[in-house]
This record gives sequence, C-alpha cells and structure tokens, in this order.
Amino acid sequence: MHIQSVRRYLLQSNHNSHVKRIIVGLLVLAVFGFASKLIFAPATFGDLGHYRAKAILEEANLEPRLMTNESCLTCHQHEKRKHLKGTHKTVSCEFCHGAYFDHILDDKKIGTLDVKKGEEIRVLCLRCHNKEIQARPTDKIKTVALPQHLEEKRVRTTHTCDQCHYVHAPLEYVNLAKKMMRIKDEPEKEPCP
Ligand code: HEC
Ligand code: HEC
Ligand code: HEC
Ligand code: HEC
Repeated sequence: MHIQSVRRYLLQSNHNSHVKRIIVGLLVLAVFGFASKLIFAPATFGDLGHYRAKAILEEANLEPRLMTNESCLTCHQHEKRKHLKGTHKTVSCEFCHGAYFDHILDDKKIGTLDVKKGEEIRVLCLRCHNKEIQARPTDKIKTVALPQHLEEKRVRTTHTCDQCHYVHAPLEYVNLAKKMMRIKDEPEKEPCP
C-alpha cells in the first residue's frame, strides 16, 4: 500500500525530480563503493572471514624473537642459581633484558642485551610494582608507593631499588638482613649467667 502510493507519486507528480536525483546519487555511490571494494580489498580478504586470510600465514612465518627463561639459564649459571630460588622466579628474563634472538643465534652471542642501571632500575621495577597502577591485583603482585616505601625504611629518597633488593631475587638481601638482626636479637634475650 505504502510503496504503491510512493510509486504513484513518482509517476504522476511533476515535482519529483529531487527524488530522482537522490536515487541516481545513491546508485552512483553504490557502484563506486562496490568498484572500490573490488579494487582496494587485498587478495584473500574474506576467504576465511572478515579479514585477510594470508595474514595468518604471514604471522606464523615470522622469525621468533622470544624464548623461555630456561633457554637463558643454560648459559647464565649465576642467574640460574639466584633467579630460580627467589620471588622473581616466575618473571621473564626477557621482560627486563630484551629478546633472546637479539642476543643469541646458533648458540653464539651476536648482540648485547639491555642492562639497566641506577635510576633506570627504579623505572623498570615500578612498571610492575607501582601502587599507582590501580589495575594490579595486589594479592597477586605486591606494590609500593614512592616516596613512602623509602621513607618507611628511613633512607634517602634517592635510593634505588637495587640498593636493597637484588634484582634477580628481590628478597635475598632483605631476608639475610632479617636473619642477621634476629641473630643479634637472640643473645640479648638469654638470661645473664
Ligand atoms: C626484574 C628485572 C630482571 C629480571 C627478571 C632479570 N634480570 Fe638480569 N638484571 C637486571 C638488572 C637491573 C641488572 C643489572 C643490575 C645488577 O646486576 O644488579 C641485571 C643483570 C644481569 C646480568 C649481568 C649483566 C652485567 O653486564 O653485569 C645478567 C647476565 C643477567 N641479568 C641475566 C638475567 C637472566 C638470565 C635472567 C632470567 C633468569 C634475568 N637476568 C632476569 C634485571 C633483571
Ligand atoms: C649461548 C649462551 C647464552 C645464552 C643462551 C644467553 N646468553 Fe646472555 N650472555 C652470554 C655471554 C657469553 C655473555 C657475555 C658474558 C657474560 O656477561 O656472561 C652474555 C651476556 C648477557 C648479558 C649482559 C649484557 C650483554 O649482552 O653482554 C645479559 C643481560 C644477558 N646475557 C641476558 C641473557 C638473557 C636474558 C638470555 C635469555 C633470553 C640470555 N642471556 C641467553 C651467553 C648467553
Ligand atoms: C615483569 C614484572 C616485574 C618486574 C619488572 C619486577 N618485578 Fe618484582 N615481582 C614480580 C612478581 C610477579 C613477583 C612475585 C609476586 C609477588 O610476590 O609480588 C615479584 C616479587 C617481588 C618482591 C617480593 C615481594 C614479596 O614480599 O613477596 C620484591 C621485593 C620485588 N619483586 C621487587 C622488585 C624490584 C626491586 C624490581 C626491579 C629490579 C622488580 N621487582 C621488578 C614482578 C616484577
Ligand atoms: C632501603 C632499602 C629499600 C629500598 C631502597 C627499596 N626497598 Fe623495597 N623493601 C625493603 C624491605 C626491607 C622490604 C621488606 C618488606 C617489609 O617488611 O617492608 C621491602 C619490600 C618491598 C616489596 C614488597 C612489599 C610488600 O607489600 O610486601 C616491594 C614490591 C618492594 N619492596 C619494591 C621496591 C621497589 C620497586 C623499590 C624501588 C623503588 C624498593 N622496593 C626500594 C627495602 C627497600
């Protein structure tokens, strides 16, 4: 009914040229859009879904750059002894040092990895341990606020994290210090002879 009245209007009215223009305009746009899709859509687009099917193959064939902590530990025996025993045992070496394949190829050292020092170490640590990052689940990863953390420990706020925390086993020195304190404490508690 409704469509018919539109048809009747188009056929009978003398004032319908604007409607025709709109229809012609839309048709031109549709043809243009369809032609552009044919010309510009990359090959294999849409073969498997609304994406370029060949992208999967390309990703799969990329040279790997990252490896596991295990792969580092075959050569770095010192870090192996420390890292595996410390609270950072689950943290990736490559997060802090960069990618395996920038360093080693065919079991040979081909490049130098990043080794942070001083101030840079603080930035590195706070990427994971900053209380400011609200999204961090604090029951999974402990966070600290600065300068409070340093003030609590009664040191200057210029202290860097590695002055108290050994980077490869952050609680090693802390626990050692605690143990030494206890050794010092205990004799005092003993009754005098
Ligand atoms: C939380 C960050 C972090 C992680 C994780 C980490 N490192 Fe380090 N590493 C550092 C920093 C910072 C230094 C430099 C400061 C230092 O030696 O105390 C360093 C020093 C080193 C050095 C000595 C470099 C030099 O020239 O003195 C080696 C080798 C090393 N790391 C290997 C490893 C290996 C292997 C792993 C994994 C088992 C690892 N690191 C995990 C931060 C990290
Ligand atoms: C095939 C042996 C080998 C493997 C595997 C290896 N390294 Fe090394 N790495 C070396 C040698 C050799 C050096 C230079 C001497 C040294 O510092 O012990 C070195 C040095 C480093 C240094 C000091 C900076 C530099 O590049 O000279 C860091 C940091 C480091 N390695 C981290 C790593 C990490 C992280 C991995 C794993 C992703 C890794 N290494 C895997 C052999 C290896
Ligand atoms: C890639 C993320 C990451 C980086 C970078 C990192 N850590 Fe950690 N750290 C962890 C995780 C995960 C744990 C284990 C969970 C925990 O105990 O909070 C941990 C544990 C710790 C702990 C023990 C907390 C506790 O009481 O159990 C300390 C201290 C610590 N890290 C200090 C540092 C310092 C200092 C640096 C910089 C050298 C650093 N972390 C860099 C992820 C990181
Ligand atoms: C003056 C020494 C000192 C410095 C410097 C220091 N810490 Fe600590 N940190 C400690 C001690 C001691 C603990 C042991 C936990 C405690 O009893 O507070 C600790 C605990 C932590 C913890 C675990 C907190 C928790 O809730 O259990 C994290 C994370 C941490 N430190 C990260 C850092 C980072 C990151 C830096 C550098 C910005 C840093 N620390 C600098 C001494 C220090």
